[in-house]
Amino acid sequence: MSHLFQKDDKIFVTKAPSFSGRVRVPGDKSISHRALMLGAIAEGRTEIEGFLSSNDCLSTMSCLKELGVEFNNISKTALVIEGRGRKSLKEPKDVLFAGNSGTTMRMLPGILAGQNFFSVLTGDSSIRERPMGRIISPLKEMGASLFARDDGNKPPVAIIGSTLSGIDYEMPVASAQVKSCILLAGLFAKGKTRVIEKVPSRDHSERMLAFFDADISSNNGIIEISAEKELLAAKVEIPGDISSAAFLLAAALMIEDSDLRIDSVGVNPTRCGFLEALAMMGASVIQGDQKVISNEPRANLSTGFAPLQAIEIDAEMIPRIVDELPIFAVLSTQAKGTTIVRGAGELRVKESDRITAITSELKSLGADIKELADGFEVKGPSKLKGTKVDSYGDHRMAMALTVAGLIAEGETVIDGAASVDISFPGFIETINSLVKGE
Ligand code: S3P
Repeated sequence: MSHLFQKDDKIFVTKAPSFSGRVRVPGDKSISHRALMLGAIAEGRTEIEGFLSSNDCLSTMSCLKELGVEFNNISKTALVIEGRGRKSLKEPKDVLFAGNSGTTMRMLPGILAGQNFFSVLTGDSSIRERPMGRIISPLKEMGASLFARDDGNKPPVAIIGSTLSGIDYEMPVASAQVKSCILLAGLFAKGKTRVIEKVPSRDHSERMLAFFDADISSNNGIIEISAEKELLAAKVEIPGDISSAAFLLAAALMIEDSDLRIDSVGVNPTRCGFLEALAMMGASVIQGDQKVISNEPRANLSTGFAPLQAIEIDAEMIPRIVDELPIFAVLSTQAKGTTIVRGAGELRVKESDRITAITSELKSLGADIKELADGFEVKGPSKLKGTKVDSYGDHRMAMALTVAGLIAEGETVIDGAASVDISFPGFIETINSLVKGE
């Protein structure tokens, strides 16, 4: 008998005898945020399909509603935005609340900085500890006035919008949120705005801006945008989220009796570090029915159990796998040899300090894992044994630990179950539908 269920704020899970079936995962979180923001400032009716109706994306939607944007929700995953152009937003009557969403907190100020009104943006206790200096400094350079707690580094962030001027900005950290913030501000700036990336981060903003007919180009790490054109409303079909698919792929690879297919998953190369890592470990994930829809590639992903080899991951690959590192850590406990992840210091400023969090919780489950300043080192394979663990209120930690529970002896109890709804509503039901043989 195996089980997986949620009670109050805990997930209870025991070892799964098998893991088979064909499923879909909810829409991509990064793309869903961008569709809302661009639809809100485009001219005309934007139709969105495959939308991720999770707490993070709903935070973006509620902020945009406070700014006067009209949404027509057709179903949980389909909605329409009646866009009235770049200058149609209204001064919000109260503080905007980004909840737990870093993407809302870092990208929306790019739009707010170009408005002729005052706004304040804050979020939950985790968001209020996340660095904002990285967006405040370029937006100030463009001409907006921004103020924040902790010497201008932490939310709440107050923004007095202004007429902006384009800048050339060399990214000090690889961050798609920061890059996207500057590109959005570029839609309100005089002249050209250029972002120079040494290490490429996810390019969903560039792709969607082009899809909405913006004046944008991207060559050799230099992304250039101007305010020349209005954005034109579009029909956006959002693929399944590779970051959510990663939990299911990892489970299939570690459970001996498994055969998994996930349909219509986004396979944008700037997001596929996890698939690259799996190939390096000796696993095969087949990509069927590849196509490009709404300027984003998607494919059906199929895999099953495979013996895994330890690998090393360094800074160059981190932006392409950054959100998958907690589940990658779980996977590496089952790989033969020493897995090393370095250059991942950004993990310390995510929804939790994911380096400390995943190291301590996997240790409790019996893994041989060591924390490094900018990553972790895991010796495998090791047998995991169920116990009580903590998600630190972080959705990706909660799901990674649930998958660890699927291969651990005995029962694993994960604290902080509610966080799963940040990115993968229906996670427990989806896993349960794949765990057979009860
Ligand atoms: C995201 C970018 C990444 C990622 C986050 C979503 C985005 O953050 O970790 O979950 O949608 O642009 P950084 O930009 O801080 O790397």
